[in-house]
Amino acid sequence: MDADLLLAPMAELSHRALRELIESFNSNSVKCYFTEMINAGTLLGGGPFEAFYLDNGPIPEKLVYQLVGPNHDQLVKAAALLNERECAGIDINMGCSAPAIRRTGAGVAWMSSVDKAGELIAALRRVTRRRLSVKLRLGAGIEPPEAEFDYLVRFCRRLEACGLDFITLHPRTAREKFRRESRWEYVVCLRDELGIPVAGNGDIADAADLVRHAELVSGAGRTGPVMVGRAAVRQPWIFAVARDLEKKVTEPQPSPLAGEGSSVLDTNLEEIGLRFMELLAKYQPTEFHVSRARRFFGFFCDNLKWGNYVKNLLNREQDLLGVEKAWRKFFEENPEEKALRQVF
Ligand SMILES: Cc1cc2nc3c(=O)[nH]c(=O)nc-3n(C[C@H](O)[C@H](O)[C@H](O)COP(=O)(O)O)c2cc1C
Repeated sequence: MDADLLLAPMAELSHRALRELIESFNSNSVKCYFTEMINAGTLLGGGPFEAFYLDNGPIPEKLVYQLVGPNHDQLVKAAALLNERECAGIDINMGCSAPAIRRTGAGVAWMSSVDKAGELIAALRRVTRRRLSVKLRLGAGIEPPEAEFDYLVRFCRRLEACGLDFITLHPRTAREKFRRESRWEYVVCLRDELGIPVAGNGDIADAADLVRHAELVSGAGRTGPVMVGRAAVRQPWIFAVARDLEKKVTEPQPSPLAGEGSSVLDTNLEEIGLRFMELLAKYQPTEFHVSRARRFFGFFCDNLKWGNYVKNLLNREQDLLGVEKAWRKFFEENPEEKALRQVF
């Protein structure tokens, strides 16, 4: 199997520095990198930081821009603008349930009208030939998911008829936010109802789990694409190790350390953190350094025994140099925390 592995759109996280970090583990492991959501209105208005949101590096042909916004015309104009840039596709955020987004009519609010969403996709189709996709949740969460699934199928079929190429389903309802486990069985059910590919997304823990989910959503001659969010920040090597595991399943090689079909990861967490900060300094504006570092280390520190303590240390710092110094000092005092060895 050679599943399509995708990095999820994540605000303040899915930017060039993270993409380059992931690529550094294996440049053939990820099929597409979704950007963090880009506000269509701000993009059209020429906000001061738009150049950073538009950075399509390091591999433009793997990049999918994600747009968010409540306004039909603005989304269409913004998509036309993005269409001029090198990229793999354009995605519309129809899944974000954060009140600040949803209240404006953006994100998951698009799921409340089949007609409006269909008109949007048809209009987007007229301005771009690039792969057009949406990212959705199971539904609003007013009814139980079983009852909402019929609506979801109707919604997705309309978008497909209007020219949509691809769907990512994060199988939780809007009400659930991150509570309760993702219901992957609905990814399989939705895939069986549609002609276009459906990627699953939600709660993948590590590389072995990623391979298991890719197998789960594959079937009927189709390889199911899988999207990873938070686990790719905690473990930027996740895609590389998953590829390794896939290879071992198809061409088993005995490993004296880990046993047949397993993979060993030996890595230095201090170095990875430093590499990330270097990339952050290189590609993001100074105004973003601290917030983006906090976001990243908020997940990455979960690899450490004293993770919460280190997060607090880093969060006290007011610039990237301070974060770097605190990071180095922690490992000077706790060298045993540097090495991470995992057997998959
Ligand atoms: C910090 C953060 C920011 C996110 N930002 C976005 C976003 O910009 N667009 C989007 O569609 N989803 C966004 N999401 C949702 C993720 O793309 C993904 O659907 C969710 O985290 C579940 O996947 P996971 O369990 O692999 O993390 C965000 C999630 C997190 C944790």
